[in-house]
Amino acid sequence: MTSKIIDGRKVAADLLLKTQAFVAELNTTYTVIPGLAIIKVGDNPASTAYVNIKQKRAAEVGIHTELVTFSSNISEQDVLRTIDMLNARKDIHGIIIQLPLPAHLNADTLIDHVSPQKDVDGFHPDNVGAIATGRAGILPCTPKGILYLLKTLPIHLNGKHAVVIGRSRIVGKPMAALLLKSNCTITHIHSHSQNWRPITQLADIIVTATGTPRLLTPEHIKTGAIIIDVGSSKISLPNGQSKFVGDVREDVVQKAGFITPVPGGVGPMTVAMLLQNTAEAARSQINV
Ligand code: GUN
Repeated sequence: MTSKIIDGRKVAADLLLKTQAFVAELNTTYTVIPGLAIIKVGDNPASTAYVNIKQKRAAEVGIHTELVTFSSNISEQDVLRTIDMLNARKDIHGIIIQLPLPAHLNADTLIDHVSPQKDVDGFHPDNVGAIATGRAGILPCTPKGILYLLKTLPIHLNGKHAVVIGRSRIVGKPMAALLLKSNCTITHIHSHSQNWRPITQLADIIVTATGTPRLLTPEHIKTGAIIIDVGSSKISLPNGQSKFVGDVREDVVQKAGFITPVPGGVGPMTVAMLLQNTAEAARSQINV
């Protein structure tokens, strides 16, 4: 029997191997080493942890990374100047600005400044617009990774009722657009939605990305539903230790058809897709 736990670590590891092979081919055929620049402002511990894992995995697949760190009081002009330099560099094919940013920096202003061809996070309006209008563009890493996980399951997305909870730039909005493109019927729930529980009970697929620990309990879901948990919140335990939990309470696993664990579900897919996007961006920037 197929396990109902979706092993994101395993799927991501297979994908990283494919990216490694693709990177090796770019190197042999075109003597190109894909380069990824990561801009990090301030010292948010979660961002530092995410950036470390991105750099570690990149090194494993042969992608060069460059970390540009700024102190939290850096001016917007200085960050924009750095983005200009990275946009112009031939050895940098992907640029990401690690979010969240300090309050005085406008994420839109900085993201809009990244060349759309190097926007391997898929956050630039050109890439967001490409999904919305069904054109080719760079897909954002987490929704792309989730779609990839869903396609490993023995189900068809066509016609399924998918409920997306949360409407962030990083997950919720692009996820709903991609599921719609996959012919799902979409309901989008967010922090202002009223009386949403009867809606999640109808869902064949739920993607939740709210950051509210254990928001979803067994009463909220239909038996056999596919549950994708993008949440990852650090909670303190009574014994003084802490652990990461998702948006989905642990006992939902008994009622779900398939479910992603936290950790080890969606998280590894985001990193794997970032590196796939970077390798593909490098390929598309070769003039042959
Ligand atoms: N912060 C949390 N997730 C992400 C992501 O996928 N990309 C960037 N740039 N920042 C993030």
